[in-house]
Amino acid sequence: MNTWNHGPVEDYAELNRASWDERAPAHAASRDYAVDRFATDPGHLSEVVRFDLPLLGDIGGLRCIHLQCHIGTDTVSLARLGADMTGLDFSPASLAQARRIARLAGADVRFVEAAVYDAPGALGPELFDLVYTGIGALCWLPDIARWARVVAGLLRPGGRLFIREGHPVLWALDDPRPDGLLAVEYPYFEREEPMVFDEGGTYVETDAVFTHNRTHEWNHGLGEIVSALMAAGMDLTGLVEHDSVPWDALPGQMEPVGGGEWRLADRPWRLPHTYTLQAIRRP
Ligand SMILES: C[S@@+](CC[C@H](N)C(=O)[O-])C[C@H]1O[C@@H](n2cnc3c(N)ncnc32)[C@H](O)[C@@H]1O
Repeated sequence: MNTWNHGPVEDYAELNRASWDERAPAHAASRDYAVDRFATDPGHLSEVVRFDLPLLGDIGGLRCIHLQCHIGTDTVSLARLGADMTGLDFSPASLAQARRIARLAGADVRFVEAAVYDAPGALGPELFDLVYTGIGALCWLPDIARWARVVAGLLRPGGRLFIREGHPVLWALDDPRPDGLLAVEYPYFEREEPMVFDEGGTYVETDAVFTHNRTHEWNHGLGEIVSALMAAGMDLTGLVEHDSVPWDALPGQMEPVGGGEWRLADRPWRLPHTYTLQAIRRP
């Protein structure tokens, strides 16, 4: 069930963390995350990071923080590309899986348990060359301006943000409808009130049954994201909108197009599916 709730804000972090803690082991066990491949193939990279490669470029030797790293498959992939990686997430169960996956991949990655807004305190005074984040990350944060200040505060002057994320137009769409129409149902712009969902299941194939299903989420418009970064002292260096997304975001209306990506089957040029944004902290 899906509820678009205008009621009082509950403790969003507690609810959301319980949902992620319960899903992390199921995600790590699902073939969609292909965790075994990290053990059997020393050159294996997550499909998400493989998609990023052309825009990401050479990250060898960069000190990189991956915000909202979940079970660490992308974090480990970035380590395999030569970056000195730290992953941060507020879900201890996700980080337990991330540490296990890094071990079996033979990757040297530091994982830190903290909420994004507490990241500067949790990580100490170290500044990073690269902040990497995305694919279902920003929707868990109520205040995009606060996020942008955290990102800027983690970067050394001249350091870079790389984010590929679900497009706010995609997040605003209604669940697939019997008539196949794409309908705008949820907020595009950031609102103080969360969208409250109560949904079993998850975005990977699994037989697991979940009980912590109530979540609070927020959308943030593309202009709001760019403006928040600029106000926080960042200069935009790239913004590319993509016609694919790395999960089946509109079940029944999307088709797999290879590399773990999905695209609207009918006239996909109507919909920006994801975007990659890059920005540099002003010197
Ligand atoms: C969709 S997952 C990210 C998925 C990741 N891109 C991947 O595919 O592995 C979202 C992650 O954000 C984390 N998260 C949500 N809200 C957070 C917050 N306020 N602070 C830190 N982590 C948070 C969750 O624990 C979860 O691991």
